[in-house]
Amino acid sequence: MGQGRGFGKVILFNEHFVVYGIPSIVSAISDYTNAEVTLLKRDNDKDFIIIDDRPETPGYKLKKQDQQNKSIELMMNLVKIKLGAHTLQVRFSGKLLAASGVGASAASCAAFARALNNEFDLGMDNTTINNLAYEGEKAYHGTPSGVDNTAATYGGLIQFTKGEIPKFEHIKIPKAVEIVMGNTGLVTNTKVAVDGVKERREKNPEKYDLIFEHAKALIPKARSAFESGDYKTIGKLMLENHKLLQEVEVTCKELDHLVNVAQDNGAWGAKMTGSGFGGYMIALTPGTELQATIAEAIEREGFKVLKTTIGV
Ligand code: PMV
Repeated sequence: MGQGRGFGKVILFNEHFVVYGIPSIVSAISDYTNAEVTLLKRDNDKDFIIIDDRPETPGYKLKKQDQQNKSIELMMNLVKIKLGAHTLQVRFSGKLLAASGVGASAASCAAFARALNNEFDLGMDNTTINNLAYEGEKAYHGTPSGVDNTAATYGGLIQFTKGEIPKFEHIKIPKAVEIVMGNTGLVTNTKVAVDGVKERREKNPEKYDLIFEHAKALIPKARSAFESGDYKTIGKLMLENHKLLQEVEVTCKELDHLVNVAQDNGAWGAKMTGSGFGGYMIALTPGTELQATIAEAIEREGFKVLKTTIGV
């Protein structure tokens, strides 16, 4: 049996804008997905079967089933696994919720890539694992920026810029910082969200150029604030980033509401994370006390939360 692990992630700055070559900042979270692959004697024409034991936002796994099958197929084709008289059993597990906005698909792709590497002795290094996970992400995203699989593969806090050869650097921070993630409970479709931005940008290029410039300018400020542990500035910049995401019309009333609840209860900053129209809101809540306060406030509004840290 081959095994592998992929981290969940939160995009802290510039989801969507990253698709257009604007730098972004992403962090792995401590929750992860495990993959196990086992060769079984083939008794039908299936190359693989999937057992998905991940916890989920209701409806997520069913909605993503076709994409998940396609993803496994793409990855197996790329590494040209010869199954012969076998079927591959793929089992996903681990604490990371199968949900929109936590990098669930990327975590499972990175985990599966590592499990294949392990089972078939493919000799892949992290760069190759990351490329293979990217291939799997295409089934979910169309043309993903690569930010999710990079965080899922490498972990840590990362500044990421898309490109033919993506550029990424780890950002060192004084210590891990608590965040609260508020789950809207809505399953989102990344491709639909990304295509929507593209369409609106084509109709209104000047407006979008200005928004993109603003988004780009946030990154050096956010990076130096992370490096010096200046949470006040990070929080302020997160709110600015949320406004820009509102301007490109990828938020929704649940996400905006969760941002307001976090702010009203003393979070240092908050924003949507991921593709939008649902998924998660993240609030910056340094210290376990503030983290608990914000988590309770969000739960009182009827939403589920995930308490975790960034920058580990
Ligand atoms: O929905 P998520 O968490 O997988 O994030 C998607 C991030 C986007 O920037 C919207 C798309 C991308 O490929 O980077």
